[in-house]
Amino acid sequence: MEYPITRLRRLRRTEPLRNLVRETHLEPGALIYPLFICEGEAVRREIPSMPGVFNLSVDEAVKEAEAVASLGIGGLLLFGLPAAKDEQASGAWAEDGIVQRGLRALKITAAAKKLVLIADVCLCEYTSHGHCGIVKQEKEGAFEVDNDSSLALLSKTAVSLADAGADIVAPSDMMDGRVAAIRDHLDEEGHEQTPILSYASKFASAFYGPFREAADSAPQFGDRRSYQMDGANLREAMREIDLDLAEGADMILMKPAMPYLDVIRAARERFDVPIGAYQVSGEYSMLQAAFAKDWLDPERAMMESLLSIRRAGAGFIVTYFAKDAAKVLA
Ligand code: PBG
Repeated sequence: MEYPITRLRRLRRTEPLRNLVRETHLEPGALIYPLFICEGEAVRREIPSMPGVFNLSVDEAVKEAEAVASLGIGGLLLFGLPAAKDEQASGAWAEDGIVQRGLRALKITAAAKKLVLIADVCLCEYTSHGHCGIVKQEKEGAFEVDNDSSLALLSKTAVSLADAGADIVAPSDMMDGRVAAIRDHLDEEGHEQTPILSYASKFASAFYGPFREAADSAPQFGDRRSYQMDGANLREAMREIDLDLAEGADMILMKPAMPYLDVIRAARERFDVPIGAYQVSGEYSMLQAAFAKDWLDPERAMMESLLSIRRAGAGFIVTYFAKDAAKVLA
């Protein structure tokens, strides 16, 4: 039936009508807020390229968790800035590592009962060279991030984070076989109930730029293109997800979000597992830069960006906007 019988504008005329026919909804419980935990006490250091996002010492992280929980946000994704870095990434799996201490402190708060505490599992914040695995020198000047020797350290990291109280472990390194290795070690150490949220589909992206400042994890040489995916490859992303699910991933995370909405949509249609998407640092920073110049309406642009990710098929969204968005949704 065509115009003039059909007039789509009829259902757009008032806010109550628009509310009634809205197809996609956001709620605070579907948002996850990343936290960057650092050494020290009473430290609350703003990240220059990420206005409103901070490096927080453990005591400040606890306060932040309380604020986040009272906004009804679903959970936290924890990253760490260790006091020292080395080739074996010992800060990633040390019993008294920075995230492990953060988890133990968070775990005993009332806020933690309302939040899912997700620990990122990766070595890049803890290695002296800033790569996500063990680096092997091939010949003079040529290096390789070694897959299989990295698995042992990633598994050890996952177990130590579960020991410290992580509700979910989330490997983001993109080594082959890491989900199986982590599942194995978790089960051996009595953590068979700890779910794995795999960053199954993680692209080598320029949009991680500000994060590397936030987590002090920029590679000292080379780049991550030999382990993270080529941004051109949607079919390969489906294979990554297939493999991670076969290895035992309980849920998957797509990353970045806005430049890869088609990949999120394809994953949603193909896989019946919980899917999250990570609106990464660069997505946040570019919007913040436009807000600072008064070029975009902050609230509307923020909500529209999150809605696009949800509409693409993400059940939950990791976002630096979580607190601001939760306030709008309250
Ligand atoms: C660790 C990791 C990164 C991000 C999440 N986990 C950095 C990277 O892969 O370089 C990026 C998150 C963001 O940009 O907000 N490997």
